[in-house]
Amino acid sequence: MSSLNPADLHTDPTLFSGVDVYAVAGNPIAHSKSPEIHQRFAEQAQQKMHYGRLQPDINAFALVAKTFFAAGGKGMNVTVPFKLDAQVFADALTPRAQLAGAVNTLWIKDGQVWGDNTDGAGLVRDLLAQGIALHQSRILLLGAGGAARGVLGPLLEQSPKCLVIANRSSEKADELVKLFANLAAINEVALESRTLLELEDATKTPYAFDLVINATAAGLTDESPLSTGAVANVFVPSSFAYDMVYGKTTAFMRQALQRGARVSDGLGMLVEQAADAFLLWRGAHLATVIDPRAVLAKLRS
Ligand code: ATR
Repeated sequence: MSSLNPADLHTDPTLFSGVDVYAVAGNPIAHSKSPEIHQRFAEQAQQKMHYGRLQPDINAFALVAKTFFAAGGKGMNVTVPFKLDAQVFADALTPRAQLAGAVNTLWIKDGQVWGDNTDGAGLVRDLLAQGIALHQSRILLLGAGGAARGVLGPLLEQSPKCLVIANRSSEKADELVKLFANLAAINEVALESRTLLELEDATKTPYAFDLVINATAAGLTDESPLSTGAVANVFVPSSFAYDMVYGKTTAFMRQALQRGARVSDGLGMLVEQAADAFLLWRGAHLATVIDPRAVLAKLRS
């Protein structure tokens, strides 16, 4: 690993003496809402901290992270495309980060860099805050990549009746079913995989879902993973459709709206995963002081 001068970071911890420095790392990162979210939590909790941005080159995450922490950085959020690099970079992982296969939060504890994944907990808290009952529900999770894997554990822990993972190709969905079979059994969840094509077949998809979560990358290009035939099978008016993408009504959300279902984008998940990271860094006792729903309302206004 070659070296980097802290001054070459977008956020140089040495410039903020007496203030704890945090940052979000991603590429691109200019439009990240994380600095604003954390600044609002810091105000609510009356914490003195600075939260900036880091944009490592695609192959330079470890170098930037090493330089940031060596220069005194206290913690880092990690977003696309570096969540796997962050998992490799961490000296120690929480059990949920191990299960998620990715890390979105790093911090220093006892001289080691710890990695956690707060995405799934953030999603679950946002769903519950929106009044979505997860216990004994029927959940369809679209996608079997990193985003889907990151939220599977916390979803299974809510003991839905069934959770179906649907993906274009079956291999990745089958792998996730194997990986999470134990947790599904412990929580008495019927965990199954299906291809997106099979969602069009009413014999293979005989019931609609209470909750459909889009964890595919299709939302980014405004495509939907669901064909017209699949839409007819998976949504009823009592369904809730959740897209992890935020800031727009995606093609997937429009399909659900046309079927009379309720929809949500992923902004609440972003705020809630940030809240968990903030509490990991600044202390769990601040949970009663910060108000993620107020921060979310501000972002939406
Ligand atoms: P991420 O970390 O964001 O999940 P990823 O690991 O590359 O990214 O996974 C992307 C997911 O989106 C995969 O499930 C992918 O499906 P395949 O495994 O079949 O490739 C899915 N995906 C991407 N574009 C899609 C599209 N246009 N329609 C349906 N699924 C799509």
